[in-house]
Amino acid sequence: MLTGRRILLIIGGGIAAFKSLDLIRRLRERGAAVTPVLTPAGAEFVTPLSASALAGTKVYRDLFDLTDEAEMGHIELSRSADLVVVAPATADLMAKMAAGLANDLASTLLLATDKAVLAAPAMNVRMWEHAATQRNVATLRGDGILFVGPDEGDMACGEYGPGRMAEPLAIVAAIEAALAAGPLAGRRVIVTSGPTHEPIDPVRYIANRSSGAQGSAIAGALAALGAEVVFVTGPASAPMPAGVQIVAVETAREMQAAVASALPADAAVFAAAVADWRMAAASDHKIKKDGTGSLPVLEFAENPDILAGVSQMAEGRPVLVVGFAAETDDVIANATAKRKRKGCDWILANDVSPVTGIMGGSENAVTLISESGAETWPRMSKAEVATRLAARIAEALA
Ligand code: CTP
Repeated sequence: MLTGRRILLIIGGGIAAFKSLDLIRRLRERGAAVTPVLTPAGAEFVTPLSASALAGTKVYRDLFDLTDEAEMGHIELSRSADLVVVAPATADLMAKMAAGLANDLASTLLLATDKAVLAAPAMNVRMWEHAATQRNVATLRGDGILFVGPDEGDMACGEYGPGRMAEPLAIVAAIEAALAAGPLAGRRVIVTSGPTHEPIDPVRYIANRSSGAQGSAIAGALAALGAEVVFVTGPASAPMPAGVQIVAVETAREMQAAVASALPADAAVFAAAVADWRMAAASDHKIKKDGTGSLPVLEFAENPDILAGVSQMAEGRPVLVVGFAAETDDVIANATAKRKRKGCDWILANDVSPVTGIMGGSENAVTLISESGAETWPRMSKAEVATRLAARIAEALA
């Protein structure tokens, strides 16, 4: 609940602005007071009247509105909130924030505020991926700006990719996490999750049975403790966690690149079931039967070990690196050796023998292996494992 919390909501100019109206409604349902600020471009997409009607309050628009200055100066406006939310955060607005410009009401408020700022980026995929935008995002992260999204998907402009504004409920979850100021507030954690798909040809791939359920639960539990979570996920069937930045990938090599660009981080949890091998050379056309009955021969190459790579970084290594070990025999001995070999701090070992029903099930039985030994947790739901692990991570980073 957000009872009594005050949100200053800056609505930038993008087609996603219509979702900000729903966001206002969702925040008010939870008891928050929302003060909307419309940029001139934002006002092209939603009317001040609708924002004001939904918020039940005045909408601020102009830096030089004398009535506003008489009622409440822009400095006061920027500080009277508990949290400043920018949704949609357009490429232009983020560029202004990164450069410290203050040439209109929204950018002035963002420069003057002494409160946490949460941005929900929304833009065309090419604009999001542009080096300038990525540079600005890195600068803003360095300044302590929190992010939720963008999501990947079909865009209003007809293209597909990352750039779509996070859904209102995901923004609400990120707002709750930011305001909860949990023990992981201000900490950045990367979580990998799900299987990877390794293409054989354009229509076939190698995969595994990971659902991504444990990884999703861990990411959600970390966000609930206030962490800024980058969730790098392969094609998983489990629902995506709320309040995290989702980076969807397919192959192990894409996952490795996504992790590299999400660094630096305070901690990283490698829950993904990464394919150990890929095709040495995936075919760029569909492999056909040749009519002679001869069978195709698949030649494999080893994928990079993402966990080992991050664990052994010479510079900029996260303080805490956590891996998983799915074992069927000698669980503790194998996982203890795996921790040493990979160089991570903790390994969560689980027995995935079919009789346990863990792979694809809703429960997990894990042993936490660290430098100081092995600690076996009772069998519990994957959500409880996640909550317990998140609490341990918070303790370790405190
Ligand atoms: N991992 C990774 N990159 C890989 C392979 C694995 O990051 N290419 C991570 C997984 O996310 C997990 C841990 O390493 O945290 C599991 O290690 P792995 O060596 O794959 O162990 P298992 O899957 O348990 O199997 P094996 O017994 O084959 O070593």
